[in-house]
Amino acid sequence: MQRNPIGLGIIGSGRIGNLRGRLASEHPAVKFIATADLKPENAKALAGKIGAQVHSGNNLDIINHPDVTAVVVSTAEGQHTEAVLAAIAAGKPVLVEKPIALELIEADSIIAEAERKGANVRVGYSRRFKERYLIAKEQILQGRIGRMTGAGARLYNSSSQALAMLKRDPHATPVVDGLTYYVDLMNWFVGGAKLTEVYARGQKGVLKAAGHDVDDVVHSVLTYDDGTVVNLSVCYALPEKYPALGHAARVEILGDGGVMILDDDHTDQIMYSNKGVPHVYLPDHNVNMVFLQSGTPGDWALGDFWGPIANETRAWLDHLATGKPCALATPREARATLEATHAIQHSAASGKPVRLPLAG
Ligand SMILES: NC(=O)c1ccc[n+]([C@@H]2O[C@H](COP(=O)([O-])OP(=O)(O)OC[C@H]3O[C@@H](n4cnc5c(N)ncnc54)[C@H](O)[C@@H]3O)[C@@H](O)[C@H]2O)c1
Repeated sequence: MQRNPIGLGIIGSGRIGNLRGRLASEHPAVKFIATADLKPENAKALAGKIGAQVHSGNNLDIINHPDVTAVVVSTAEGQHTEAVLAAIAAGKPVLVEKPIALELIEADSIIAEAERKGANVRVGYSRRFKERYLIAKEQILQGRIGRMTGAGARLYNSSSQALAMLKRDPHATPVVDGLTYYVDLMNWFVGGAKLTEVYARGQKGVLKAAGHDVDDVVHSVLTYDDGTVVNLSVCYALPEKYPALGHAARVEILGDGGVMILDDDHTDQIMYSNKGVPHVYLPDHNVNMVFLQSGTPGDWALGDFWGPIANETRAWLDHLATGKPCALATPREARATLEATHAIQHSAASGKPVRLPLAG
């Protein structure tokens, strides 16, 4: 049985870099960890927390370190490309957070270099690793709903989450950074079909009032080349203290031989606490009423982190250590998802249907 030891370089030691690092430090194949961040104090703090051997304020020191055999790129959304290209050039497998990049031209450069070097690059669409969606994919693969004819997904989140994303990068909009997970799920569920047309409408409100020229609500209809029609909607402008501490979603998948209704709102798991509950992702954000298990990356319990990011990190490390396949998105899949989110925004802005592929 193949068991490759892993030396992991973490580029971007923020919230998700911390989670990936902590999870990796407990994986049996990981023998070495090095951390980097534009802010050297972040890399140092993460290294201290997880016992990483090396830390640096210079990404290349870590990517090219001889004991680093694989790289996680968990920098802010607009800062992925340079580190991913450097890891590909160093011949090391990469896990980059979603979206692969903010611009299609950057995604194209990653695809071109990865294919030229035969590099193993994966993109962290961790919704795939929320168990209800993994299990839904299995039902589709087993043919249990027949041929997929349509689907719908509706995603809600609070304005506090939207404002944190927009502060990190003004291009990390609710469509490009939030709905993107559900575009990825739909592209994954439909299999090989290609998106040909997008039609969307949006409305502004509280995010604009907070200084961002971004829609509060977007509804869209996506049509694939096999005729599948998908309705995707997003609103990241729910009240600041809405009890979901991450995605509140509903996903419905329709086939000619069955249907799946996936209620992902977590309204069946309610806690009210006088003491309050901290947000898993936003610092200084405390709520009294919470839908338990609604944190997007997952949740802490009994000293361990459980949920989509934990499942995904383990699946990727297992894949590197044992060579077994994993379901993480490929750069081409992530590029198709990025293109779809851009098309949704273009259509909402122009009020006209947008044909794909997008020009340029
Ligand atoms: N899968 C999920 O559940 C999930 C959840 C949240 C965020 N994300 C994704 O993870 C990524 C990071 O998000 P986050 O919430 O950790 O953000 P964050 O702001 O907490 O952390 C980003 C870190 O990257 C550092 N950084 C920025 N540019 C850099 C550069 N060029 N080189 C080195 N370091 C750099 C910052 O200093 C910061 O420490 C984003 O792509 C985001 O979309 C995924």
